[in-house]
Amino acid sequence: MAVLPIYTDGSPVLRQKAQPLTKITDATIQFILDMFETMRKANGIGLAANQVGVLQRIIVVDISEVEGYEEMKPAAYINPKVIAERDKLVMEEGCLSVPNIRDEVERAETILLRYRDSNFKIVETELSGLPARVVLHEIDHLDGILFVDRLSPDKKEAHMEELRKIRIGEVDVDYPVVTAPNAAV
Ligand code: NI
Repeated sequence: MAVLPIYTDGSPVLRQKAQPLTKITDATIQFILDMFETMRKANGIGLAANQVGVLQRIIVVDISEVEGYEEMKPAAYINPKVIAERDKLVMEEGCLSVPNIRDEVERAETILLRYRDSNFKIVETELSGLPARVVLHEIDHLDGILFVDRLSPDKKEAHMEELRKIRIGEVDVDYPVVTAPNAAV
């Protein structure tokens, strides 16, 4: 397995739409394992393929280290799609591509998710609370959306200076990154 560098805000690939997979190959499985390794190295609980420069609709989630979610198995979701949602919940979020910024975002509390598993079998599952939150955040990545886009104008304003620094490549993290000035894609 390999730890892949994570693209930070300002990199064009974070603003592009990832494409659905039509099949799974050995390379796909290897890539998913690398995504897990990368997420863990960065102490993240979710990662989307865009964040490592790949425009495929794949996300990985592992919240098993979060108190209360020890039973939640790490999962890869391929071509994930929300087919129903209900209720709203405000939760604090952060993002490995937007380091050291955290703020509250409102999203659906409960979702019905349809995706393909690592055997490319279609699965439907209902997620609520933190698992739903992480999946919604990661699906946004696949659509070129960052959580800071969803902040109210005054909250966004409060993070402007930090965002400006990230976008010019001033990023202080202990995991490998590709910052915007160095991003080829
Ligand atoms: Ni993120």
